[in-house]
Amino acid sequence: MLRRHFMFLSASTLLAVGSGLARGEDGVPADPRKIIFLADTHIGAPAPRHSENLRGIVSEIISMNPRPGKIFILGDLAFSYGKTEEYQELKEILAPVEKAGIPIFFVVGNHDTRERMFEVFPEKKLEQAEIPGKQVGIIESEGVDFLILDSRLDDPREYMSQKKQFPHRQPWDGTMEAESIAWMEKHLPTYPRPLFVLAHHPISQTKIGGLLEKIPAVQGYLFGHEHKYLRQKSGELETFTFPTTSQRIHGKAEPNGFMELNICPEGFEFTLCALNDSHPLDGRKEVLPQKKI
Ligand SMILES: [Fe+2]
Repeated sequence: MLRRHFMFLSASTLLAVGSGLARGEDGVPADPRKIIFLADTHIGAPAPRHSENLRGIVSEIISMNPRPGKIFILGDLAFSYGKTEEYQELKEILAPVEKAGIPIFFVVGNHDTRERMFEVFPEKKLEQAEIPGKQVGIIESEGVDFLILDSRLDDPREYMSQKKQFPHRQPWDGTMEAESIAWMEKHLPTYPRPLFVLAHHPISQTKIGGLLEKIPAVQGYLFGHEHKYLRQKSGELETFTFPTTSQRIHGKAEPNGFMELNICPEGFEFTLCALNDSHPLDGRKEVLPQKKI
């Protein structure tokens, strides 16, 4: 990791000179067209290596030049079921990023408890009047906007009570409530700028691929949950599973780490930054050409 950013530093510092990028209090520029995605951080006392991984990623982000304009965490911030102490530990780990002035946005996962998350991070709460209690909102950004959706089951016990009829159901599954779908049907078809849709659960569970592929603004669907890296298509819709930052890797061959998005003239360039520098997917790039609206 260190070598990659050392090499990156000299070239990008030159690019930043005179480019008018916003600067943090310490003078390091931030590029609004560079975005970092973390997923499934799973912070909690029984898993100290998860915290260690995230601390390393935080210092890697802080040492970037330019720094990213925004960071998104794609759910499962907590290790257990979203205890206050887990969010307090996360807050302490993220403090250097907050201090550097890089805005961070949260997606809710099945390991999270919204009430406790927002007790510790009240400023991260998003809400739409038509979808009370759900973490849903559009984050405007340079070159592309981001729609955060909330795919967490409201009542896993009630959901599991029908396991006899639906034997494949698991309490960690996701969903998309009718209110969120109605909100998207109302607001998205005429959305005027490119948009990525973010959620914790895969589109096979949120089942909104048919809706999203018809919306001209939507460039792709980005999610976590599966603790692996995968680019796929759901109909015409591009989807990406982003890797976990934790040690709970799905299968021995999968990477853990984070994703970097750079908005370039060619389109949206995603780079996988694996924690293990020798992982074959470390540095892998995927470019999505921008869809015309
Ligand atoms: Fe997870």
